[in-house]
Amino acid sequence: MSTVAITDIGSLVTNDPNVGHGALGLLEDAALVIDEGVISWVGHKSQLQATDELISVEGRTVLPGFVDSHAHLMFAGDRAAEFESRMNGQTYSAGGIRSTVAATRQASDVQLLENLTRLQAEMLAGGITTFETKSGYGLDVETEVRSLRLANQATSEVTYLGAHVVPAEYSSNPDAYVDLVCSQMLSAVTPHAKWIDVFCEQGAFDPDQARHILTAGKAVGLQPRIHANQLHAGNGIQVAVDCDAASADHCTHLTDHDIDLLAGSKTVATLLPGAEFSTRSPYPNARRLIDAGATVAIATDCNPGSSYTTSMAFCIAVAVREMGMTPAEAVLSATVGGAKALRRNDVGHLGLGARADFSVLNAPSYIHLSYRPGVNLIDQVWQGGQRSTK
Ligand code: NIG
Ligand code: FE
Repeated sequence: MSTVAITDIGSLVTNDPNVGHGALGLLEDAALVIDEGVISWVGHKSQLQATDELISVEGRTVLPGFVDSHAHLMFAGDRAAEFESRMNGQTYSAGGIRSTVAATRQASDVQLLENLTRLQAEMLAGGITTFETKSGYGLDVETEVRSLRLANQATSEVTYLGAHVVPAEYSSNPDAYVDLVCSQMLSAVTPHAKWIDVFCEQGAFDPDQARHILTAGKAVGLQPRIHANQLHAGNGIQVAVDCDAASADHCTHLTDHDIDLLAGSKTVATLLPGAEFSTRSPYPNARRLIDAGATVAIATDCNPGSSYTTSMAFCIAVAVREMGMTPAEAVLSATVGGAKALRRNDVGHLGLGARADFSVLNAPSYIHLSYRPGVNLIDQVWQGGQRSTK
């Protein structure tokens, strides 16, 4: 196996404070070495030893691949008309999910896979090198299993979200649907999933149901995460922390008590700027969370209803402009924050032994990701030591 050096890096974000300065572990005029798909050396380019191959990035910025810890890519159809009516004044509600459920149930495996592959390619081109994806647009045993089985072809971070919303056929008996999610559906999906998630929200599942569902998932070895406090304040954060969820996602409406709970736990607060943007909702205040000591991640929440974007750069720019994050905090949250939300330490940084997943930016620093919104700055993307674009 040959070694590859990337050199003439104008600014290298390692996210390893032992390697460079500040929380981003920044190094100027740097180089890195890839050996067997992992980072085997980082340092000043003048200290670079001989390698089998040498690639100059001519002063550009290199940063860790983005880790998108929250996406819903297993669906068919779109909801452009719903978006348009929202922009005409309609409010967003959990119920819109059902129209995607109808389209997803009708879709073939080939169609679901084509949609997944298309969105995965968009993510990769935009610098996302690790992503999570959920089921949740099947809501029957067959389509939930199908969604999760197919998702495994694209990522190891696969989440069972049978509890996304109560499907129409159970609307008069939601408890029977919760039973299905925790029994027959759970047994059928367990071989295909790593995580279990619940949409804990008015119009979806209440905190008691959410706790029940996550507990049932944990009992069969799935790891919990939760959609909490997106549209209203509620007890979702308490459920997350009690269940040791890896992540509580959305966190749009938080009380001081919720913030203390998150800061005192290992549960990451995952913010989804695309969702507030596309539902024209107030943004969560990341500053409050960070100042209290909570770990914050940013993710795309890519889905056809509330956030149809695969662009982490867009999410970073919105988080900086609207959520009170600094450019550095937003980059950390989209990389190592996402990794923590997936309880991974092999991605999200470029320290020794990390996976060689990184992007080369056509810009002199990471700041340009939020300073130049809407501009595609990604010049190259490397995944597992292989260059995947251009
Ligand atoms: O994360 N909040 C719940 N689930 C998605 C939205 C799903 C939809 O509207 O289709 C979300 O925003
Ligand atoms: Fe979501």
